[in-house]
Amino acid sequence: MLIQEKVVILDFGSQYTQLIARRTRESGVYSEIHPCTIPTESLKALQPSAIILSGGPASVTSPDSPAIDPEIFSWGLPVLGICYGMQLMAHLLGGKVAPSLDREYGRSELSFAAQCPLWTGVSDRGCLTVWMSHGDHVLAPPPGFTVMARTQSIEIAAMADMDRRMYALQFHPEVAHTEEGDEILRNFLFQVAGLKSSWTMSSFVDSMLHSLPAQIGDDKVVCGLSGGIDSTVVAVLLNKAIGKNLHCIFVDNGLLRAGEGEEVIGYLRQHFDLNLHYIKAQDRFLSRLQGLEDPEQKRKAIGYTFIEVFEEEARKISGVKYLAQGTLYPDVIESVSFKGPSAVIKSHHNVGGLPEKMNLALVEPLRELFKDEVRKVAQELGLPDFIVWRHPFPGPGLAIRVIGEITDARLEILRQADKIVQHELMASNWYYKVWQGFAVLLPLKTVGVMGDERTYEHVIALRIVDSIDAMTADWSRIPTEILGRISNRIINEVKGVNRVVYDISSKPPSTIEWE
Ligand code: XMP
Repeated sequence: MLIQEKVVILDFGSQYTQLIARRTRESGVYSEIHPCTIPTESLKALQPSAIILSGGPASVTSPDSPAIDPEIFSWGLPVLGICYGMQLMAHLLGGKVAPSLDREYGRSELSFAAQCPLWTGVSDRGCLTVWMSHGDHVLAPPPGFTVMARTQSIEIAAMADMDRRMYALQFHPEVAHTEEGDEILRNFLFQVAGLKSSWTMSSFVDSMLHSLPAQIGDDKVVCGLSGGIDSTVVAVLLNKAIGKNLHCIFVDNGLLRAGEGEEVIGYLRQHFDLNLHYIKAQDRFLSRLQGLEDPEQKRKAIGYTFIEVFEEEARKISGVKYLAQGTLYPDVIESVSFKGPSAVIKSHHNVGGLPEKMNLALVEPLRELFKDEVRKVAQELGLPDFIVWRHPFPGPGLAIRVIGEITDARLEILRQADKIVQHELMASNWYYKVWQGFAVLLPLKTVGVMGDERTYEHVIALRIVDSIDAMTADWSRIPTEILGRISNRIINEVKGVNRVVYDISSKPPSTIEWE
């Protein structure tokens, strides 16, 4: 992709590094995260317009702490160090860093100590509430640096060498708890680095429509469509870029909820001239799931079966060279993370292994984007709200929401209950306010009374959560009347259910899905 200006964020392992990238992009400046271990030559080859050094858990005073080649500071680029990034600048440029046994964590009151381009238009009181999370702090600034702000507990909370365009902050401007943190970052990007706000999703779409045909030529591409936003955007983008050389494969695994997939597929059929291969494979999936209760075994069985079905279909299309995938930027960062890949909590369902097996090259047009940017691309492509703002639906589908064994009858109970949840969330306008909402069928029965009769029936759990990126989530405070209506309707309308409960756990320590 042709990008003129690029901020490179060097990651030292902070939990907030992705936020720095999100904030710069929200300001209209393209940014990329790279591990701090990137070789200096490779960093130079990226031709950054500015560099941001992230925070991180290490201490520059310990011998094995991560560092960078100080030569980078002589390239004449604007540099912003945040937290550990600030301490590293102080350490490498001749200042002094004081080790500390305690971490200062949380809100702190920052007072400006000098005029600084970063403070332009920020707080007319000369002070701000900022978010701190650090152990060490800078005791003496390096030669050429001036102290720009202090807090009650540290004398050097911000410093700068304005001539060399080097700035450093002990607090985290990227975190929402820092008042006017966005403005401070924008001041670095625009006032200090002189960048332009040119990263927009319409420029992204334009450049993709140029680069995808150049990359793919006259070759054929297969793409797995799931009905979710990522694969839909990939398909629509490729359809516009290479037309009929794109073949989309939709696998109906029998684990979809009522209308899932079909609505999106129906829309795509109506509005785009796609080569669409609709594969009905319910029986194969259900027979593979027979007798399985363990969540990981279920996920794996579905993953393998999906690859098998997808491969069979893809092999029928002659001359395919590429597999298109909706990989997003957080997956890319995760795989090159400075901290190393995180532990597998749940096996995610994808077409892993297929490219090697079928000797296909990958096309991943969204690999530079965050989820919110994908939604903007979808809007740019003219896709309707029900696709743009569709709740995520996991690859293994209802199999991980029917807790325990999967049978046709249990799937059907869940499907009916879930349809009511979707309907009531839409009808009350809560669908678009929450991240995700769905029903889960529990593997137990409880006693109830209907009319004069004792019943002994299934329990449905409602899971409705708020989240920004699914990494963390909290249960949605849905008005009790709406919960009451959902519960009444499920118990009255879905045969075999006599109890509904609401899941009030946050992630972590729970996860969004139950399995
Ligand atoms: P958890 O349950 O890990 O889910 O908190 C986080 C988000 O990911 C979705 N999810 C999946 N998506 N394949 C997917 O494409 C999967 O196997 C899968 N498992 C969970 C989940 O719905 C939530 O949005």
